Amino acid sequence: MKKVGFVGWRGMVGSVLMDRMIQEKDFSLIQSTFFTTSQAGQAAPNFSGSSSGLLEDANNIEALKAQDIIITCQGGDYTSEIYPKLRAAGWQGYWIDAASTLRMKDDSIIILDPVNQKVIEQGIDQGIKTFAGGNCTVSLMLMSLGGLFTNDLVEWASVSTYQAASGGGAKHMRELLTQMGSLYNVASSDLANPASAILDIEKKVTSLMRSGSLPVDNFGVPLAGSLIPWIDTQLDNGQSREEWKGQAETNKILGTQSLIPVDGLCVRIGALRCHSQSFTLKLKRDIPLAEIESLLASHNPWVKVVPNDRQITMQELTPAAVTGTLSTPVGRLRKLNMGPEYLSAFTVGDQLLWGAAEPLRRMLRILL
Ligand code: HSE
Repeated sequence: MKKVGFVGWRGMVGSVLMDRMIQEKDFSLIQSTFFTTSQAGQAAPNFSGSSSGLLEDANNIEALKAQDIIITCQGGDYTSEIYPKLRAAGWQGYWIDAASTLRMKDDSIIILDPVNQKVIEQGIDQGIKTFAGGNCTVSLMLMSLGGLFTNDLVEWASVSTYQAASGGGAKHMRELLTQMGSLYNVASSDLANPASAILDIEKKVTSLMRSGSLPVDNFGVPLAGSLIPWIDTQLDNGQSREEWKGQAETNKILGTQSLIPVDGLCVRIGALRCHSQSFTLKLKRDIPLAEIESLLASHNPWVKVVPNDRQITMQELTPAAVTGTLSTPVGRLRKLNMGPEYLSAFTVGDQLLWGAAEPLRRMLRILL
């Protein structure tokens, strides 16, 4: 059995990963060691039904070196510090990472096997040992629109995202919910009175939003009842880093020979853990809509084409419907007024599942 070390398994992405690995009985196929940055020597979790011993120190290079495979959800700072030391110490094992740190390195592959299984297999044959999960919006786009991208039918893609609080982290989710509660509380007695004036209620809510008293340590500004049209850091070219990743990672995942332009605006909204995205796609030719739908639907077992019908769309193409599932639906498919090669599409996907944890456990399976 391969020895597999887990780092950052207790955080949000790590917990989703552990749940999925338990569901899929992955632990029965490996010899697990659990690492910790703060509680070495305490009892390790028992996900596999048999004892996993004690927690090892996640900064102990010798203990890490004993692993055939390391899976980390500990974050970019950990990767930046430990990964170079581990390789410098001669470790030849496979490193599977949720963080973005190593994604764009020449000797790493971004893993999303339903989309780039061939790229992954070729990489393994060539001796690649470093695998990074993709940015969540990119991975979710490709799970939903893979049928067009992998058949080389996309000339370019323009996107506006609707990204959930979980993309920022667990604290961001708590902050959003706390803000929502505060906004409700300031209006609750007026809301209970059907005779109260809605614009008076709105004034109270807006004034609380602007008062500076809502918790904003994580988002920097109120998100509840609002939105934030910037995600991640600012680049010199006017893009946000999140927007930059769209084109860079899409083309790396697909292993494209000629670049597919992908660009747009990334926006944080008050959803909990589903990222949604609204696309304008310029196709390379005029493809009938029925053919587009069939290409999309047959690309992988998780994508679902939602008919462009009001009622079905409202039922099936929302964060409320998709959260907590592996489904990556795509809908609102129609040809736009700009011409027959211009297609609209709207996608939804759970940012913690296909957007983060699922590609990691599937990469582990590929290596076993
Ligand atoms: N950067 C993403 C977000 C997280 O903030 O939503 C997942 O890659």
